[in-house]
Amino acid sequence: MRAAVVERYGGPEMVRLREVDEPVVGDGDVLVRVEATTVGPTDGTNRSGRPAFGRLYFGLARPKHPVLGYDFVGVVERVGPGARRFALGDRVYGTLAPTPGAHAELVRVAEDGVIAPIPAGLDAAGAVSLLDAFFTAIPFLRDGARLRAGQTVLVNGASGSVGSAAVQYAKHLGATVVGVCSTGNVELVGSLGADQVIDYTRDDFAAASDRYDVIFDAVGKRSFRECRSALTPDGIYLSTVPTLPVLLRSRRARSADTGRRAGILFTGLRSIADKTSDLAVIGELATTGAIRPVIDRIVPFDAIAEAHRRVDSGHKVGNVVVAVSEAPRGTEVGS
Ligand SMILES: NC(=O)c1ccc[n+]([C@@H]2O[C@H](COP(=O)([O-])OP(=O)(O)OC[C@H]3O[C@@H](n4cnc5c(N)ncnc54)[C@H](OP(=O)(O)O)[C@@H]3O)[C@@H](O)[C@H]2O)c1
Repeated sequence: MRAAVVERYGGPEMVRLREVDEPVVGDGDVLVRVEATTVGPTDGTNRSGRPAFGRLYFGLARPKHPVLGYDFVGVVERVGPGARRFALGDRVYGTLAPTPGAHAELVRVAEDGVIAPIPAGLDAAGAVSLLDAFFTAIPFLRDGARLRAGQTVLVNGASGSVGSAAVQYAKHLGATVVGVCSTGNVELVGSLGADQVIDYTRDDFAAASDRYDVIFDAVGKRSFRECRSALTPDGIYLSTVPTLPVLLRSRRARSADTGRRAGILFTGLRSIADKTSDLAVIGELATTGAIRPVIDRIVPFDAIAEAHRRVDSGHKVGNVVVAVSEAPRGTEVGS
C-alpha cells in the first residue's frame, strides 16, 4: 500500500509517498481502506521537529513514527478473527491518536478502539473534518472550562479547526459566544453561531475588563497575563498550546477553584473510553445538525506536501483534508 512517509525532520518536502507493508490484522481488529484523512498542526510539529521540545515526544533524532496523521474515514475491507462490531463494507471514521499512521491507504484499528459508523448525511471529507476539531473543543469547553448556558465565552482563533468547532459547541451549550479572527473570516465565524465577532486586526479583545467567564485561546496566541483582566473574577483562561506559565498555573488551578485561573488539556492523550464516548457525542450533534464541518481545502494524496504547506501557514480555515482514495466531496472555504 502507499503511505506518506517522513523519515527525517524538515519542511513539507520531507513528506514522500512510498510503498510500505500493509498492516497485519490481528484478533479483534478491522482493516479500513482510507478515503480521507487530515493534516493538522500536530503533524506539522511531528514532521518539522519544531518546536524542539516536541522531539521529546515525537523522537529525538527523527520521527519515531514515519507515517503521520491520526484521523481517518473509510470502508472496512477486512475483519480480523473475533471482531464483531463491524462488517465488510461498513463506512467508518475514527482516530488512531495518540499513535499516528493515518496518512496511508490502509489502517488497522482495534474494533474496541475509537471508531464508529460515519454520521448519516455526511460525506467523507465532512466526517473526517469533525474529528480533531471536536475531540479538542468538546473536552476543553465541557471539562476544562465547565462552560454553562448563560455564560460568556471568547474563542480566540475562531476560524481555525479547533476554534470553529469551539464556537459551534459553545453555542450548542447555550453560552454567549464571542469569536476572534481576522477580517476575511468574520462572516464565516458569524455563520457558525458567534453572537459577536471581533476582528483582531482592528480591536483587541484583551482590552475588555471583567467580561468573559471563559477565554479559550484555541490557537495559543495570547498569554494568560494579557487576558487576565478581561476575565470575570472567577473566569478561566484555557490555551491549546503549552507554555511554562500555563503548565505551572494549570497545576495550581486544580487545588484553587476560585479566582481568575488558567489551564491546559492534552486531549489526544485522553483514554479510549473517553474518546469513544465523545465520538458518540460528535455523531449525534452532526446528525441533528447542531454542528457542521469546516473545510479549508481538499488535497489529493499525491499532493500531501501541499497540505503540510497550508497547515504551516498558520492561516488555514477549519481543516485541511487529504483525499486518499477517491474525491471525498465537501465544500472548501479556504482561499
Ligand atoms: N492541547 C491539545 O490537546 C491540542 C489538541 C489539538 C490541537 N492543539 C493545538 O491547537 C492549536 C490550534 O489547532 P488548529 O488546527 O485549530 O489550528 P489552525 O486551524 O491551524 O489555526 C489557524 C487559524 O488561526 C487563526 N489565527 C492565526 N493567527 C491568529 C491570531 N494572532 N489571533 C487569532 N487567530 C489567529 C487563523 O485565522 P486568520 O487567518 O484569520 O488569522 C486561522 O484560521 C495548534 O497549536 C494545535 O497544535 C492542541
